Amino acid sequence: MKGKTCVITGATDGIGLEAAARLGALGARLVLVGRNRTKGDAALATLRTRVPGVVVDMHYADLSRQDEIRRLAPELLATAPRIDVLINNAGGFFEKREITVDGIERTFALNHLGYFLLTELLRERIVASAPARIVNVSSGAHRRATLDFADLQTARSYSGWKSYQRSKLCNILFTRELARRLAGTGVTANSLHPGLVASSFGDNNRGPMGLAFRVAKRFIGLSVEAGAETPVYLASSSEVEGITGLYFGKCKADLPSVAAQDDEVASRLWRESAALTGLQS
Ligand SMILES: NC(=O)c1ccc[n+]([C@@H]2O[C@H](COP(=O)([O-])OP(=O)(O)OC[C@H]3O[C@@H](n4cnc5c(N)ncnc54)[C@H](OP(=O)(O)O)[C@@H]3O)[C@@H](O)[C@H]2O)c1
Repeated sequence: MKGKTCVITGATDGIGLEAAARLGALGARLVLVGRNRTKGDAALATLRTRVPGVVVDMHYADLSRQDEIRRLAPELLATAPRIDVLINNAGGFFEKREITVDGIERTFALNHLGYFLLTELLRERIVASAPARIVNVSSGAHRRATLDFADLQTARSYSGWKSYQRSKLCNILFTRELARRLAGTGVTANSLHPGLVASSFGDNNRGPMGLAFRVAKRFIGLSVEAGAETPVYLASSSEVEGITGLYFGKCKADLPSVAAQDDEVASRLWRESAALTGLQS
């Protein structure tokens, strides 16, 4: 990864921080995105200790807000003359329905529109850096989800888990459509399930689902080291050079759900996402 620049979101904790350390150790220059300066400083200190001499910058944005993504993107472009890898990883689970400043349900805004808008704003630079890779962290939680275009933001009967499952289905559909649109550019796009990982994921929830997460992570959660395996593999391995549009688990291509393979739905989701973020579809 020497000479390559990796942009990683959600790099102040969990899978993103571990992936940053691993890619830094492979020689990559790191351009990281966090949202909390105290955690960002701690993450930078960890990275500098783990990878002496690592070249790393931290930028800050709340990726559930479109104004912050629009402020962040030019900052990243100014810092990174090339972007060889973009890992969209920042994500969350919200037991209670919340609405962002953009009037959008928070899970959908952060987990899907955050990936969509940031990627689109960086796309030209990534294409100019080809061969390059876009890696979208999804989840096996997508498997029971379907999209309802009449209620994309789960307004009718909100369940945090249902909204999370849908957002992770969106990650895979977005990746498929992105790969199709990037065909011939030398930029690949793949999504992945990292496994159930004992990170800080879900700790912001105090209700029954928050408790369920804590118990599941404690008893059957993988280490963050194991959780970072597949994103690091997709970002750096020569085995996946030129491979695009696929979904991976345990560093192997895997079939996502039938709903996640529907190219018409993927194309419609793209158009809806463009409308919701004020981009041209
Ligand atoms: N953990 C699992 O079992 C699991 C399973 C399947 C998929 N995933 C996916 O893996 C990805 C990473 O999760 P993780 O397990 O590493 O969770 P984590 O330890 O909670 O880390 C999440 C990262 O995202 C950042 N983030 C959260 N909300 C943000 C916002 N509004 N704006 C900017 N950054 C924000 C967090 O920042 P702070 O440090 O400020 O909180 C943190 O750096 C997510 O996309 C998740 O859906 C996780």
